Amino acid sequence: MSTTPNPQASDHPAATQAPSCKLSASPHDAPPSPAGKRPAPPCTLVIFGAGGDLTKRLLMPALYNLAVDGLLDGAMKIIGVNHGERETSEWREDLHKSLQQFAADKASTFHAGKLDDHAWNWVAQRLEYKAGEFETDDIFTKLKQELEQSPGSNVIFYLAVSSRFFKPIVEHLGKAGLLKEGEGGSGGFRRIVIEKPFGTDLASARDLNAHILSYAKESQVYRIDHFLGKDTVQSILAVRFANALFEPIWRREYIDSVQITAAETIGVEGRGKFYEQTGAFRDMVPNHLFQLLGMVAMEPPNSFDAEAVRDKKAEIFDAIQPLTPDDVVFGQYEKGPAGVGYREEPNVAPGSTTETYAAARVFVENWRWAGVPFYLRTGKRLAARRTEISVQLKPVPFLLFRDTPVDALTPNVLTLRIDPAHGTSFDFNVKTPGPVMQVGGVQSSFDYADFFAERANVGYETLLYDCMLGDATLFQRADSIETSWCAADDVLHPKSGGALPVHGYAAGSEGPAQADALLARDGHAWRPLQQHAVEKK
Ligand code: BG6
Repeated sequence: MSTTPNPQASDHPAATQAPSCKLSASPHDAPPSPAGKRPAPPCTLVIFGAGGDLTKRLLMPALYNLAVDGLLDGAMKIIGVNHGERETSEWREDLHKSLQQFAADKASTFHAGKLDDHAWNWVAQRLEYKAGEFETDDIFTKLKQELEQSPGSNVIFYLAVSSRFFKPIVEHLGKAGLLKEGEGGSGGFRRIVIEKPFGTDLASARDLNAHILSYAKESQVYRIDHFLGKDTVQSILAVRFANALFEPIWRREYIDSVQITAAETIGVEGRGKFYEQTGAFRDMVPNHLFQLLGMVAMEPPNSFDAEAVRDKKAEIFDAIQPLTPDDVVFGQYEKGPAGVGYREEPNVAPGSTTETYAAARVFVENWRWAGVPFYLRTGKRLAARRTEISVQLKPVPFLLFRDTPVDALTPNVLTLRIDPAHGTSFDFNVKTPGPVMQVGGVQSSFDYADFFAERANVGYETLLYDCMLGDATLFQRADSIETSWCAADDVLHPKSGGALPVHGYAAGSEGPAQADALLARDGHAWRPLQQHAVEKK
């Protein structure tokens, strides 16, 4: 989340001060790009998993978008490592084809239309393929020889591989001396980017952190949660802290409850094998949903400095009251209007008890949030695709309306829409037209597309760019990963023994009835997934 000075703010007193350290510390004198940012420092990006889906779907589109914006240095190199011999030209062609397909696909987040040939050629020229096994020395020796040819070079090792390769790759990099920086090292920076899943529970996450940190310093490790790459997620801090309307009421005295939803219409697609081992809870809750919770609940940091932001978020993860099985509902989709049941999906056991839906009631035990429930839900094959956060305010006294025909006031709700809609909406009450004092709920909405030129963006652009700049704000620190898993541990390994029951729900529905009961016992109800806007009367 690099901060760039606002060009319109030149008459502001702060404009005469030195710009933010991050920008002034950049070793580059390159002119600012059209986006107002500077190109990242030169570096070699080594992608382990060059033939995988992540590289095609997310990394290449993101690199292409950064090239379009002029945010990459001319000396950049991209080395793709994968098992299986092939020519660089073949890899390039394969990437080009898939980039063209995604660009043409209206349903893709990278729906750019026609590719800019100049930008693609710029990226293509810098691609180099190397065959190698992730668990043997050979490829690491080759990489070392190649990287030694450019002393002082900056290198990012991107682990776009299955999580079982995280440990061996880091170990080989460490043992080959490829992670040494500064004195005795290469002189340039050496960074490792690690995808999720980062462990499968507290014990495995601790073990993975300990392993990585025996070869690299924490400052070299960039743990990705791709939700943090979304502009709408980064905007949560802007909505909260840049608006006098919201900032003072963002606390237990005014907020009744918060709902965080990440609902999907897709099923497990081709990922049955992965999903059987993972389930909706591990896949989404202690990472993506907790990250959203962190952004909603954190105290204001003193600046956008990476550690300032991450310290405040870490306090929240630390304050999450450990979830108990009583606060969590699991579900699994069954045959319904949207298609077959989970157990009929490829690579899924016919008697599988893996959850494809998880809902949780979470409390953040600190001064600001004591007593405010945060309701989290996520699931596959639900009625609508919707990632959003709804903040419901406490009711006002009804006193004034008791002698009017008004029966009840609808609660004020601020909804932050993350995906696929980008924007906010606010539900509030007004007097309905006519001679009688009657009150009706209305909704005021803001859509990013109405105000800003939105470009096909896969969310990895900012993350890659920030990693090149050394800005770790949007990446997860070891301590936060561990406290998040810690809060979830009793759900994954219930002290009472048996696993949580998994309730059926029809594919294409709102989720299991037991999830409704979870909120009903507090007098609350989920925001319906299907009905969004307040209906016009
Ligand atoms: C991934 C999960 O991390 O996030 C997927 O593994 C899920 O199961 C995806 O579909 C959701 O991300 P997004 O950005 O599509 O909402």
